[in-house]
Amino acid sequence: MPTRISLIQGPNLNLLGSREPDFYGREAFDEVNRKIKQRAQELGLEVRILQSNHEGEIVDAIQDARNWADAIIINPAALTHYSYAVRDALTAVRLPAIEVHLSNVHAREEFRRHSVVSPVVVGQIVGFGSLGYLLALEAAQKVVDTSHK
Ligand code: DQA
Repeated sequence: MPTRISLIQGPNLNLLGSREPDFYGREAFDEVNRKIKQRAQELGLEVRILQSNHEGEIVDAIQDARNWADAIIINPAALTHYSYAVRDALTAVRLPAIEVHLSNVHAREEFRRHSVVSPVVVGQIVGFGSLGYLLALEAAQKVVDTSHK
């Protein structure tokens, strides 16, 4: 059975392409998702993509991943910096998770340097734009394969 990845994107990421392109790039949200699906197919992974502007829906998506996914890739967007609900959900489902940020959060405002979710994820990929999601697919595959050995 192929490894299954739930890829979750938080508030305002649906505006990719038009939102602060110097930080987030000019590629449209749909185009990014298309590339994610294509790369997943090349790697033999099954991926489900969800974006929501609502914290509770992100929590629901993390909980739902428990019934389907082998790993989670998450860009919690601004929720990264303050959502204990997202962090607790990641802890609760006990799936390996990879945190992605398109921009280099460490080179921006002070509040973006702190992630409340990073202590409960396997690792972070930051600063590579949408490539970060593609790298995260490989990372997730490796983490899942290693845990099955
Ligand atoms: C982001 C960084 C966050 O600080 C910001 O709130 C976002 C996007 C990123 O992908 O670089 O919405 O997660």
